[in-house]
Amino acid sequence: MSEKRIIAVVGATGAQGGGLARAILSDPGSGFTARALTRDVNSDKAKGLAKLGAEVVAANVDDVASLKRAFQGAWGAYCVTFFWAHVSPEREVASATNLAHAAKHAGLQHVIWSTFEDTRKWVPLSDHRLPTLMGKYKVPHFDSKAEADHVFTDLGLPTTFLLTSFYWDNFIYFGMGPKKGPDGKFAITLPMGDKKLPGIAAEDIGKCAYGIFKKDRGFIGKTVGVAGEHLTGAEMAAAFTRELGQEVRYNDVPPDVYRSFGFPGAADLGNMFQLKRDFQEVYVGNRKLDVARALNPSLQTFARWLAQNKGRIPLE
Ligand SMILES: NC(=O)c1ccc[n+]([C@@H]2O[C@H](COP(=O)([O-])OP(=O)(O)OC[C@H]3O[C@@H](n4cnc5c(N)ncnc54)[C@H](OP(=O)(O)O)[C@@H]3O)[C@@H](O)[C@H]2O)c1
Repeated sequence: MSEKRIIAVVGATGAQGGGLARAILSDPGSGFTARALTRDVNSDKAKGLAKLGAEVVAANVDDVASLKRAFQGAWGAYCVTFFWAHVSPEREVASATNLAHAAKHAGLQHVIWSTFEDTRKWVPLSDHRLPTLMGKYKVPHFDSKAEADHVFTDLGLPTTFLLTSFYWDNFIYFGMGPKKGPDGKFAITLPMGDKKLPGIAAEDIGKCAYGIFKKDRGFIGKTVGVAGEHLTGAEMAAAFTRELGQEVRYNDVPPDVYRSFGFPGAADLGNMFQLKRDFQEVYVGNRKLDVARALNPSLQTFARWLAQNKGRIPLE
């Protein structure tokens, strides 16, 4: 038996969990060790984590028995769900419920639940500034995470509620990078007006989570929001222009236009950006940069992230 505190990391082969697993594994004197949960222990990513020193175990958030096994003997767990894998709020709530019950079963000392605000507190279903989606949501992938918060609380789990931010990695993987318009110029398109979008390098979310675990039980019961920077679309476009050495404009579109783009999730994301635009003060206020930097002293700025990742951003 390891005397180290085991952190079971859900989504360890992915963005948030990967950042946390690597943060733990790169700090061997810390007293923590990482248990990486994956559906496929034989994947290259899983093997990569094992090489770094992780214990790799099989688990699926749809299967509570597998989670109970995977959490057994751990001290803490990082719990994240995968909305975009199925685009079902109900399934996301079910996954989170499985995670909470498995954490309770294992008697974990500290759980971090990667969640979001319930946007219906700001824009009730009766408020038509944002269209209601899937019958009872304004921003489904936010609201469903928030709906699961009470499961962690009701079970009396020692939980830190982590509010994450827009990954700058979306400019690489989510098709949000600069695209050439009809004028032949590159632009990033966001329906944010002149408001600031809290953003973060996905890797830094995991590093912030590690900072929370390192505070022992200090954050339990608290909600902590993290971001690397709060930037307007124009500020991000200017950073792209500097780093890519060619002009990148900010294409500010109305949320209705963004919702009509037709890609899977366009309506959800259009609502999300509109909410961030129209409730900027509270949304930005929930994600304090000094808090994130205290948890993760190597927190990246957008310029630094871009300098390191510009070669990975597809330019269409
Ligand atoms: N994109 C953004 O800007 C952003 C910002 C903040 C929050 N989020 C939220 O982040 C969440 C996703 O987290 P992420 O970005 O870290 O995920 P990710 O990078 O897509 O990685 C997910 C990993 O989790 C594993 N996984 C997928 N389905 C699973 C399942 N049923 N059971 C167990 N493991 C499963 C996969 O690993 P294996 O194949 O190895 O099992 C995968 O490598 C979403 O709910 C999203 O709303 C996204």
